[in-house]
Amino acid sequence: MALTPRGRFITLEGSEGSGKTTAARHLGDWLRSRGERVVVTREPGGTALGDEVRRLVLHLRDVSDDLEPRTDALLYAAARAQHTARVIQPALERGEHVISARYLDSSLAYQGVAYGNDLEEMRRLQAFATFGLLPDLTILIDVPVEVGLGRKRPGAWNRFEDAEDVAFFERVRAAYLDLAAAEPNRFRVIDGSGTVEKTDRLIREAVEPLLATA
Ligand code: TYD
Repeated sequence: MALTPRGRFITLEGSEGSGKTTAARHLGDWLRSRGERVVVTREPGGTALGDEVRRLVLHLRDVSDDLEPRTDALLYAAARAQHTARVIQPALERGEHVISARYLDSSLAYQGVAYGNDLEEMRRLQAFATFGLLPDLTILIDVPVEVGLGRKRPGAWNRFEDAEDVAFFERVRAAYLDLAAAEPNRFRVIDGSGTVEKTDRLIREAVEPLLATA
C-alpha cells in the first residue's frame, strides 16, 4: 500500500492589517477547489490552550499591561508547542496541507526583535516549541505600516492597539524583511498593499510550485 504523501506546511506572516487571516481562508478555499485536503489555522490559537493564551496575552488587560518580555515569549511558545504537536504535525502526517496565519517567525519578529528578547535565545526557544518543524513555505505579506494600521477595524481591545506606536510596527516590518532575506528558500515576500484579489493571486503563484512537487 502506498504511503500517504505528507502535506505541505504553509505559513502566512506580516504585521497588523496585512491581511493574513483573509488570505489564509482564501488560500484554503482555493486548495480545496483543486481537490486538496487542507487545515486552516492561526496563532495564537488553533487549540483550546492557544485560544486561552490569545485571551491572556492580547485581550486581558491586567495581564497584558505588565507582561515581562520573557513571560510573553514563553506563553506564545507554550501555545505553539500544543498547536504543533496536536494540530499541525498530525494533519501533515495524514497528508493534509496546513495553512497557519502566523507561526514561529511572529515570535522572532515580535518577541525577539521588537520586544528585545535575545534573537538567538528566541530561535532556540522556537526550535524547542516546534519540535524543529519549519514551514515548507512562508509567505510574508508586506504592507507599509500606515496602510496596515489604517485597515484595522474596531473590535475587541488588543494590547498592541494602544500600547505600541508606529515605530514599534516599523521594527516589526523591518524584522520580517530581515528574516525573509536570511532564508530566501523558505520565504516569499509579496506586496500586500493592493486589493484582496491581487494578494490572493500573488499567494497562489507562490504556492503553486510547491504543489507540483508534492
Ligand atoms: P492577530 O489576531 O493575529 O491579528 P493580526 O495578525 O491581524 O495583527 O493578532 C495576533 C497578535 O499577536 C499580533 O499583534 C502579533 C502577536 N503575536 C506575537 O507577538 N507573537 C507571536 O508569536 C504570535 C503568534 C502573535
